[in-house]
Amino acid sequence: MLEAVNLQKEYFVSGQNSAKNTIKAVNEVNLRLEKGEFCALVGESGSGKSTLSQLLMGLIPPTSGDVLLNGKSIVPKGKRRERILCSKLQIILQDGKSALDPHYTVYQSIAEPLRNLMNLTRNEEKQRVSVLLEQMELPQEFLKRRPYELSGGQLKRVCIARALAAEPEVIIFDEAVSGLDVLVRKSILDLLKRLHREKKSTYLFITHDMDVALYLANRILVMKDGEIVEQVSYRGDAECFHHPYSKLLLNAMAPKAVLSF
Ligand SMILES: Nc1ncnc2c1ncn2[C@@H]1O[C@H](COP(=O)(O)OP(=O)(O)O)[C@@H](O)[C@H]1O
Ligand SMILES: [Mg+2]
Repeated sequence: MLEAVNLQKEYFVSGQNSAKNTIKAVNEVNLRLEKGEFCALVGESGSGKSTLSQLLMGLIPPTSGDVLLNGKSIVPKGKRRERILCSKLQIILQDGKSALDPHYTVYQSIAEPLRNLMNLTRNEEKQRVSVLLEQMELPQEFLKRRPYELSGGQLKRVCIARALAAEPEVIIFDEAVSGLDVLVRKSILDLLKRLHREKKSTYLFITHDMDVALYLANRILVMKDGEIVEQVSYRGDAECFHHPYSKLLLNAMAPKAVLSF
């Protein structure tokens, strides 16, 4: 279980006349991600979603408050992130190309976290990489390809395989399908739904699209100006949203939303 307690992150940026302005990117956030839950975090650009995801991953220190994984604080203290944390928490970002080493083959990209975080024999490693590729619905001959030989959707699948390789407890997807065309996006979302059903890890899916959040998640957190303004359990009825900002996001949904497939 991953928990944020009174979490706050301030940034100092240059303002007028060389004065320093304070931005409260994350403001007094309290949330709990229960084991096996598929949760979505929705909010417009600049609302603090990526800052919150980095805090939840233990990648940046908060200004105040705490992040607890199974009751233990994961707030970074030194420069190095603990190995155990890397294996338990994984994040998938929007830009698949920069997430993968351009010189690595698909096999090497997926095998790298296995080598760093698990003690497998070469044969076990081969087998695990092959199963992961199969789960991503990619053919085995892709193992020899490099990132420039893959489409956007295929790259995304390799990034997901790499993140899942060491069987993390929590996976955060930060705008992970933004920038993909609508059919590819739908196929990735369906893949995530299936993987989540099979594996029961905790998923936090971050998006600025309310339709994507509705399509995927059982619980939806709405974020505005650094604060979580509403948390709802979602069972297919948009009436469960009450906050005016949530309603604004609902109304802003494209008429041909993913939901209408
Ligand atoms: N490293 C940083 N330094 C200064 N300001 C930042 C930094 N990262 C984010 N911000 C600011 O914090 C706010 C929230 O940003 P971000 O977490 O990226 O939002 P989102 O992911 O929802 O678009 C924005 O106003 C952004 O400009
Ligand atoms: Mg962001």
